[in-house]
Amino acid sequence: MPNYRILFCASEAYPLIKTGGLADVAGSLPHALHKLKHDVRLVLPAYQSLMVSLKTRPTLRYQTRVNDYPVAILQTTLPGTRVPMWLVDCPPLFDRPGNPYHDEQGVPWEDNAQRFALFSQVIVQLANNQCGMDWQPQVVHCNDWQTGLVPALLNEQEQAPATVFTVHNLAYQGVFDRATFEQLKLSEHLWHHDRLEYYGGFSFIKGGLVFADRISTVSPTYAMEIQTPAFGHGMQGILQGRAAYLSGIINGIDERTWNPGTDKLIAQTYNWQQIKKKLVNKQALQQHFKLDQQDDVFVMGVVSRLAEQKGIDLLIDILPQLMDMPLQLVILGSGDKDSERALQDAAEKFQGKLGVHVGYDESLAHLIEAGIDVFLMPSRFEPCGLNQMYSQRYGSLPVVTPVGGLSDTVMDASEQNIKESIATGFVMPEVSDMALLKTIEQARQLYREQAVWQVLQRSAMQANFSWANSAEAYVALYTLALRDRLLP
Ligand code: ADP
Ligand code: GLC
Repeated sequence: MPNYRILFCASEAYPLIKTGGLADVAGSLPHALHKLKHDVRLVLPAYQSLMVSLKTRPTLRYQTRVNDYPVAILQTTLPGTRVPMWLVDCPPLFDRPGNPYHDEQGVPWEDNAQRFALFSQVIVQLANNQCGMDWQPQVVHCNDWQTGLVPALLNEQEQAPATVFTVHNLAYQGVFDRATFEQLKLSEHLWHHDRLEYYGGFSFIKGGLVFADRISTVSPTYAMEIQTPAFGHGMQGILQGRAAYLSGIINGIDERTWNPGTDKLIAQTYNWQQIKKKLVNKQALQQHFKLDQQDDVFVMGVVSRLAEQKGIDLLIDILPQLMDMPLQLVILGSGDKDSERALQDAAEKFQGKLGVHVGYDESLAHLIEAGIDVFLMPSRFEPCGLNQMYSQRYGSLPVVTPVGGLSDTVMDASEQNIKESIATGFVMPEVSDMALLKTIEQARQLYREQAVWQVLQRSAMQANFSWANSAEAYVALYTLALRDRLLP
């Protein structure tokens, strides 16, 4: 197998800065590639909170000006790995408190176009070995709209590294107006509906979808879905046109972070041979949320961004019926303010049965995964989804909608699958509140047959979600991307 030089570009990476699954991927795929002996380097914006969380001071490697902004490139390694990491330091754009994409009210930073255009332009300079690093990648691997301009800009050059663009979520496209396009001084040639132009504005993500040598997304099913109007968010035409260059590679899970056998954030470690020990986590979870202390009650959990995508409104709709059933529910999430309020009000009303924590809390997320019996993920669409895999690893069976990566990673508890001992969760027949209610009831009934339940738990805990397989699939994709480019 060849050893590639890969520049991996992302707008977030665990454990430094995380708003969702992209960070989990950017924090573990480069490490998996490194373990396969590829020379991979990660590049991220030097956000304020990221800089604060670094344990050692990065070294200054290069200084320049881009679009009249001062830019420094700092070097360190991704914590917990030996992957070299470059940080694009531009204080006017990245040195501000809070979230990478929006302010405390959830309003996108108004200079997001400038921020991620500059990030992309610096990546292009790194890709061209113009920053004094004495290193040039063969493949530039971009992720989501924040790095979408990179393939478009590299495409303007004769000799450029190959590009791979991974779609983690097509709902976020980085769309801005004509005036911004002009401000960014992008080449007029890109202003065309076959290129960046999009209904009178322009879209960063089109840079990746149109110009990358290969496009991937994070599950085979989502790769098919996004070619249809129902899931394409307006990009289905482009994606159909590039179908021959589009594929789906399922995400892995980081065993160092998500492993019930070694997890330091849970009350009691356990593995598939000692499932009974999991109960200690249920007790700790009930205590945390002040729920009735009851060992045999059916406990369900949610850890999620509260966004339209995640179908939390379906769950809110059926809360009254659920709260009439003998079960408990804990929810950790933040995002949409109406959902936050509705959940908090419901928690007041159903004390002892429903626990809600609005916010972002890494260790509570782990305790929930370990303490529940069933994880709910009623997503309207789900490119891959990580929590349904984390849940399986923790012996907490997922209840999911039949979409995207959820379809690809959960084996439904159908009669046949149970008979063959391959079931690992519950796949709803459709995306609706009634299907959710019915499937929860089905899971609750099966929970009463503990012997069968434990067979499902063991299959779920032993399912192979390793990054090694997916990293190899990316390497194969790099080979394809490079096939058309003649860089050494
Ligand atoms: P998405 O990226 O669409 O949000 P994923 O399932 O791929 O969905 O990844 C979500 C990641 O973010 C998981 O690691 C999950 O545990 C984490 N997460 C989401 N919301 C919270 C929260 N409120 N507190 C802690 N972790 C969260
Ligand atoms: C996105 C998707 C999620 C996926 C994650 C990582 O945020 O919503 O389904 O798991 O990216 O690829």
